[in-house]
Amino acid sequence: MLPAKLPLDKLPAPEGDLRVALGWDEQRLAPVWHDFGVAPHLMVFGDAETGKTNVLRLTIDAITRRYQPDEARILLADTRRDLLGMVPEEYRVGFAVDGESLTQLAGSAAVSVGKRVPGPDIAPERLPRRDWWTGPRLFMLIDDYDLYAGGPGSGSPLNPLAPMLAHSVNIGLHLVISRSTSGAMRAMMDPVLRRIWELGSPALLHSYPKEEGKFIGEARPRTLPAGRAQLVTRRGVRLMQIGYAGP
Ligand SMILES: Nc1ncnc2c1ncn2[C@@H]1O[C@H](COP(=O)(O)OP(=O)(O)O)[C@@H](O)[C@H]1O
Ligand SMILES: [Mg+2]
Repeated sequence: MLPAKLPLDKLPAPEGDLRVALGWDEQRLAPVWHDFGVAPHLMVFGDAETGKTNVLRLTIDAITRRYQPDEARILLADTRRDLLGMVPEEYRVGFAVDGESLTQLAGSAAVSVGKRVPGPDIAPERLPRRDWWTGPRLFMLIDDYDLYAGGPGSGSPLNPLAPMLAHSVNIGLHLVISRSTSGAMRAMMDPVLRRIWELGSPALLHSYPKEEGKFIGEARPRTLPAGRAQLVTRRGVRLMQIGYAGP
């Protein structure tokens, strides 16, 4: 019943801080929301040409529609340079095209958002108000994560952010990471991806071949048309059609 193409204008506009309609679910043909305020990150997996970069386009569209540049900034890692043109200059805080530049940018991002980690002086009731820091939220959008390596033996370029991941909602740090499903089982050993999953953030799992097996939650390999994905959370799996954000 799901359409082959779901234009973004068939989906509700992004709202709040930040709720994004990702697409429609198969059961009800109703919008499926991702709430960055509750689950701060999002992972996107799939074989080549299955719709991964499109999810990043949809995210850029949502951020730039919902926020002014003083409210949210975008750090982009995009070796193919597919996405840079979509991010207006005033939203950009960094652009990485290789592991080295991503390592550097992740390091300086870790320093700036690290200062926002609430100390023991911040009472719990202040947490939702986020009144102990000012400045824009940081969205780090990383396309084809498997193409970045920090250099021999250095692990993930995102490692400097690992200690901050648990505080993400409180410090306005959001990661949207797409990765090929090739070697996905090994990819889930990556401390950053594993932590993101453990912290309850979902994954969109596009079409991928049987050989890669089961690597996240209860989802199994499926052959799907481009733009169709399993939304995998710790609660279960839902098939959905992702909104098409066009080239
Ligand atoms: N949500 C979608 N709905 C319909 N078609 C899509 C969707 N996302 C991607 N596609 C199609 O699949 C092709 C590959 O999409 P892309 O996002 O570049 O995939 P990937 O990044 O996984 O290689 C696009 O050119 C487009 O035609
Ligand atoms: Mg792509």
